Amino acid sequence: MGTKSKPVNKKRATSNESRATINILGIETSCDETAAAVVADGRIVKSSVIASQTKLHEKYGGVVPEIASRAHIEKIYPVIAEAIEQAETCEADIDAIAVANQPGLTVALIVGVTAAKTLALTWDKPLLAINHLHAHLQSAVVADENLQMPAVALIVSGGHTCLYDYRSPLEPKLLGSTIDDAAGEAFDKVANILKLPYPGGPAIEKIAKNGNPDAIKFPRSMLAPDSLDFSFSGIKTAVLYYCRGQDMKGENRVDSMSAKQIADIAASFQEAIVDVLVKKTQRAAEKINAKTVLLGGGVAANTQLRTALQNMCDSTIPAKKLLVAPKQYCTDNAVMVASLAYHKFKAGIFADLTLEPKASSE
Ligand code: KG4
Ligand code: ZN
Repeated sequence: MGTKSKPVNKKRATSNESRATINILGIETSCDETAAAVVADGRIVKSSVIASQTKLHEKYGGVVPEIASRAHIEKIYPVIAEAIEQAETCEADIDAIAVANQPGLTVALIVGVTAAKTLALTWDKPLLAINHLHAHLQSAVVADENLQMPAVALIVSGGHTCLYDYRSPLEPKLLGSTIDDAAGEAFDKVANILKLPYPGGPAIEKIAKNGNPDAIKFPRSMLAPDSLDFSFSGIKTAVLYYCRGQDMKGENRVDSMSAKQIADIAASFQEAIVDVLVKKTQRAAEKINAKTVLLGGGVAANTQLRTALQNMCDSTIPAKKLLVAPKQYCTDNAVMVASLAYHKFKAGIFADLTLEPKASSE
């Protein structure tokens, strides 16, 4: 996107038209994407602008909060202005401002929250506070208007791995989450061990295509038989030991490995993660008698995970319907924020100017 500063369009483009639609400006800055979008009635995407910081963080192998915060400050206004311009709308036609205020990096969230509060105040618009994880879930829901309930939702991102009992957009009930590393975090850390670029998920997926998923049997941590929580630090450590030796004293063998050996590690690691994610989702689906399975979050872009979940949904009795977020809305974006905000708007659940960012989910 071009991010040159230009004034936000304040003139009413359609002053004489009566509008039945609800236009919401969504803002997202929870991690390393500065994003804004205008969505009508929770479904019609009028614009979506994302300024990614991947290039800034890649040399560190992960997101550096201070760098993320500064980049959000630099980009937030141009991104919002561009979202409004692309939507061919204006201040007067925006009905509310929505912002992801949790969970995430507080120093990053605060930039979006401050921008949203400022716009809500100066434009005299209602403010809506959105849970970033619930918004990821919404990305999968918008794919189908006739969602069969109950649904179980798997949200897999760089910072979170959660299972929800989903019966309405406003009250997803948390069934389980990771007790250590998130799935995406494990992808990123293992990519780092394998000296692959950041973000690790796409890099591992790409190289895994040339590898044998059965080459190495990495551990699958299922926790207690009825647990819906996740643990991925064991798989990550197993990859580390595989590359450095059990005592971690050996040299990192990655430099001397062939491309095929690295591909085998990537494929076997991906297989182990996907295996756990699918089995736990199946466990959750059985527990709540789910008719539908929802998949969202950055790791939902992974084709292996999508295919394995589809196979699980097809083979269980009765079969379940799988709804997956479209790839462009798997990773962080503001469309999902504005889309979920529509339901809050309709329910009259507004925030006020005391809204604060929160590192963890409420
Ligand atoms: O949802 P997201 O954009 O940001 C957070 O809310 O964390 O997710 C980013 C995460 C990163 O860890 C990235 O490695 C992972 O999603 N990811 C993938 C793939 N694409 C992104 N993981 C596995 N396979 C992919 N294709
Ligand atoms: Zn996310």
